[in-house]
Amino acid sequence: MPTMADKKILVSGVKPTGRPHIGNYFGAMKQFVDLQDSYESRIFVANLHALTTLQDKGEMERNSKEVILDFLGIGIDPERTTLYYQSDVPHVTELAWIFSCLTTMPELMRAHAFKDAEAKNKDLNVGTFNYPLLMAADILAPDADVVPVGKDQIQHVEITREVARDFNNIFGETFKEPQELVIKTVETVPGTDGQKMSKSYNNYIGLFDEDSEIKKKVMSIVTDSGSDTPENVYAIHNLIKSAEELKDLYAERKGKYKDLKDALAKDLIAFITPFRERRAEWEAKPDEVDQIISEGGKKMREIVHEKMMDVRNKVGLIHHE
Ligand code: ADP
Ligand code: TRP
Repeated sequence: MPTMADKKILVSGVKPTGRPHIGNYFGAMKQFVDLQDSYESRIFVANLHALTTLQDKGEMERNSKEVILDFLGIGIDPERTTLYYQSDVPHVTELAWIFSCLTTMPELMRAHAFKDAEAKNKDLNVGTFNYPLLMAADILAPDADVVPVGKDQIQHVEITREVARDFNNIFGETFKEPQELVIKTVETVPGTDGQKMSKSYNNYIGLFDEDSEIKKKVMSIVTDSGSDTPENVYAIHNLIKSAEELKDLYAERKGKYKDLKDALAKDLIAFITPFRERRAEWEAKPDEVDQIISEGGKKMREIVHEKMMDVRNKVGLIHHE
């Protein structure tokens, strides 16, 4: 068993912008659970990032609490993983400012997420433009070695490495260059309409959906008539069962879409039920959950404060207590 000191550091965050779906889980969040024994794990609610699109006090507060319950529900163990709110570690925003003074506008204009946002909305806020630098600060301040993310976040981790390199070149070796961890086997999870599963398309199966919702949504999965295997049904099924486990079922029920959907609904229910139950257990202990977040924030403030003393010293920002 490696000791804490030997373990590499893992950092990742999730924005509190809506309920998670199985695409989020299999595309990114599953790694938080699978890797928590191998790394010193630090997972946070990216509420400051959410502020770029979510400007409603009630919703921000509710969603942030929900995300913590989601983390606990999928099996993140607070004994092994530090859970915290991004906003509870304010030094990170100071670091993001320092990075914004070292980064040129063209470097950030290349970001896919920025380009997509710009294509949809010309009146972008500055936070959306600066987004990758706050993310770089989230990752570099606690000295992350690895960053488990979904495919669409790889570029942000690349930008993070460039920022670390730029800082190190100017001020001397300070930051490690972190590596993204992406689940290679999972391409984009399709939604019930066959497009990418997404909160914004209302085509998703929620990670904590009730049995009746799961059944309804599975029945609504669009199937292309004419083929023996309904592709969208299989793609979702293959997330929770291996090709080997599915082989006989899909051979015996060739072309019988209704039977295959029934089988998928049953397997999804079996998969989601323990998540829902564990989440409900934590939901019944709000004080304990609050304590976990409070302790997580305190621990991260100490870690990041120490790092920032080094950063300030290197930059020439004289510190006063
Ligand atoms: P959404 O599109 O539902 O708003 P987000 O953009 O908040 O999802 O994504 C959060 C994380 O989940 C990202 O790391 C992303 O790569 C991953 N993710 C989202 N949708 C999918 C999907 N359909 N398939 C695989 N991964 C996904
Ligand atoms: N940008 C990430 C997303 O949209 C969320 C995020 C914010 C994050 N800061 C991070 C992920 C730091 C990993 C590390 O999914």
